Amino acid sequence: MTNENVAEFFDSLTGEYTETIERCFPRYPEMLWAVLNYLPTGRRFENILDLGAGTGNLSVAVHEAFPEATLRVVDVSRDSLDICRERLAECERLICDETDFRNLEFPEGSFDLIVSSIAIHHLDAAGKQSLFQRCHNWLSDGGIFCFADQCAGETEDLYARHIENWKQQTMQAGSTEAEWQMWMQHQAEHDHHDTLSDQMAWLRVAGFESVDCVWRFLLWSVIQARKAA
Ligand SMILES: C[S@@+](CC[C@H](N)C(=O)[O-])C[C@H]1O[C@@H](n2cnc3c(N)ncnc32)[C@H](O)[C@@H]1O
Repeated sequence: MTNENVAEFFDSLTGEYTETIERCFPRYPEMLWAVLNYLPTGRRFENILDLGAGTGNLSVAVHEAFPEATLRVVDVSRDSLDICRERLAECERLICDETDFRNLEFPEGSFDLIVSSIAIHHLDAAGKQSLFQRCHNWLSDGGIFCFADQCAGETEDLYARHIENWKQQTMQAGSTEAEWQMWMQHQAEHDHHDTLSDQMAWLRVAGFESVDCVWRFLLWSVIQARKAA
């Protein structure tokens, strides 16, 4: 995968991104809700990182939940980030990084919350493991990493069933065969689906504890992991 291709693909979708995602990714708003809803209550997060923020659907929800926090959003797609910046114009502590999150480096303990939504599956298995390790390092003690993403099935037949059900839901939501083929092509070229169990194991190897899947539907899971306090 080259970065330029991923950026180009999401640049090209930018204007109609949310409409497209809501039609093609079943229960997408509920999935974003789950990222925030399962965070410990009564906790103040002061430094938050959103990896692959795109046009800011999750970032906006994060800002609404934690308006006082410094929010750092990272994405390779310039057009998407422009929209994200506009949508968060009133966020006084917004930092936008147009960069590849594979190259990010921050001092240890820079964030108390790291979130992401349907972005990490652009990394292969080794890339995910390296990112999980770095996220653990970037979090302060007691910090939380929570991300929503697409996963493979535990078996090929379960995975195939997920894809079949996904197509059915997408068609029912008003998509077309051409749009479905566009996603399948994007998937073949850029996406790396690893199983939920592998990703949870890699998080534990990276040092996280209390690793849990707090929400799941078809290919999509929301995984939460905590750094020891
Ligand atoms: C499907 S969009 C999700 C956007 C947003 N998080 C949401 O939920 O609507 C995936 C985003 O991840 C970004 N992305 C993919 N790989 C990336 C990488 N290696 N570094 C930075 N951004 C990346 C893409 O540019 C795109 O904006």
